[in-house]
Amino acid sequence: MRSFVIGFIVALLVVAGAVYFYFSTGAAPVAVDAQAMPFERKLAQKALHARVEKEMPKTPPPVQANEENFLAGAHVYAEHCAVCHGLPQEDSEMGSAEFPRAPQLLKGTGVTDDPVAETYWKVVNGIRLTGMPQFKHHLSDSQSWQVSLLLANANKLPASVQQYLATQHVEAHEAGESLGH
Ligand code: HEC
Repeated sequence: MRSFVIGFIVALLVVAGAVYFYFSTGAAPVAVDAQAMPFERKLAQKALHARVEKEMPKTPPPVQANEENFLAGAHVYAEHCAVCHGLPQEDSEMGSAEFPRAPQLLKGTGVTDDPVAETYWKVVNGIRLTGMPQFKHHLSDSQSWQVSLLLANANKLPASVQQYLATQHVEAHEAGESLGH
C-alpha cells in the first residue's frame, strides 16, 4: 500500500513536471497560425458549454422576436459585430485572422441552432482567451437581446432587415470603435 502511494505521488509529479516543461520551454503554440495544442479545442469547448449551460437565463427573453427588434439588433450588429463576424454579402478578414476564428454569423447555420439565451450569455460575457469581447459595458440589456434574437433568426429575417444588412460594410468600423473607445 505504502509503495503504491509513493508511486502515485511520483507519477503525479512527473505529469505536473512535463506539463510545466511543455509550457515553460515555449513548446506550446501561441501564434494564430500554429498547430492547436492536443485537446485544446475540445477542452475549451467543453468548458465553455458547461459554463454557459449553467449560467444562461432559463426564462423566455424579455424582448420579442419581431421585425422592430430584429432591425434594432441589425443596427447593433453592423456597428459592433460585423467587423469580426461579417455580413451576408461580405466576410470579415479580421475574423478569419484570429484563433479561434470568428464564425461568420449571418452565413450558413451561424447560431440559428443555439438557444437565444446561450447567444445572449456570450454577447454579455464574451469568451475568455478568444477575440470575442464582452459587451456588458457597451450594450444595454435590450440591445444584447435584440442582437441575439437577430442571430437566432438569421435564416428567416424579414426583407426590411435583409435590405438594411445588404447596405452595410465590414470595414466601416474599426475593432476599437466597436467597443465604443
Ligand atoms: C474583435 C472580434 C469580435 C467582435 C467585435 C465580436 N466577436 Fe463574437 N466572436 C469572436 C470570436 C473570435 C469568436 C469565437 C470564439 C470561440 O471560438 O470560442 C466569437 C464567438 C461569438 C459567438 C459564439 C459563436 C458560436 O458558434 O457559438 C457569438 C454568438 C458571438 N461571437 C456574437 C457576437 C456579437 C453579437 C457581437 C457584437 C455585439 C460580437 N460577437 C462581436 C470575435 C468577435
